[in-house]
Amino acid sequence: MQWIPPINLKRYHLEQLLAARGITVDWLNSGETDTFHPANVARYSITEAAKIIPFHFQDAIVDSPDIHTWLTELITQARKEQAARGNPLATVLHGRSLLLLGSTGTGKTHQAYGAIRELAITGVAARWVVTTAADLYGALRPRHGIDSEAEFARYRDARILLIDDLGADRTPTEFVEEVNFRLINHRYEHHLPTLITTNLLRKELAARLGDRVTSRLIEMCQPVVFEGPDRRRGEAA
Ligand SMILES: Nc1ncnc2c1ncn2[C@@H]1O[C@H](COP(=O)(O)OP(=O)(O)OP(=O)(O)O)[C@@H](O)[C@H]1O
Ligand SMILES: [Mg+2]
Repeated sequence: MQWIPPINLKRYHLEQLLAARGITVDWLNSGETDTFHPANVARYSITEAAKIIPFHFQDAIVDSPDIHTWLTELITQARKEQAARGNPLATVLHGRSLLLLGSTGTGKTHQAYGAIRELAITGVAARWVVTTAADLYGALRPRHGIDSEAEFARYRDARILLIDDLGADRTPTEFVEEVNFRLINHRYEHHLPTLITTNLLRKELAARLGDRVTSRLIEMCQPVVFEGPDRRRGEAA
């Protein structure tokens, strides 16, 4: 963890988020030069989050109570593990996963990136890897000069992983099925927190993802259903 100098709230779209969570700029920019001070961890996390959050979602804020509950559980678990191991830093290592289900434009990806920002400001370290399912398969496709297994390990072992748009392929190939199973099975077995979004309904999961992946997802994830109209159309109207 490196020392991060005081940060500009506007640059990271933090004013509304900090106000909503009762965090002051005085706290965020405190901590002298102690790199393990939660405020420095928060500043570091905010700068890291900004590197992986797409422009469109850079000011996203979570408004789903279920996602807040999930984040609170992760933070509690991280602090427990920190105390048990005597670590100077609270880090998200283990916990439940979350499955955001809903039709197109209901706000799943918005909430997912909001969750990354919400966790960042708490001062608990969370090393996210983010991908869409389609980009994941693209990154893993065997090709010259790429070690697909090393690439796979980056997602498999991510401390906390966002998989956006799982199950989008109408006719998944064997390759896609194998990646899904290996990835979900590993994260299931090791209790690695994973935030997944999908356009599928709960009853469609097994038909699209297979029984074995679906069974694991149901045990490891809390489902959160998004309803309502396509917000993109609302904007256009
Ligand atoms: N809570 C919110 N506040 C403001 N804008 C929102 C909110 N939720 C979603 N939006 C906006 O609505 C649009 C659709 O949201 P988003 O991309 O998250 O939908 P989605 O459920 O991921 O859709 P898809 O299944 O097609 O990927 C985006 O422009 C997003 O920024
Ligand atoms: Mg989306």
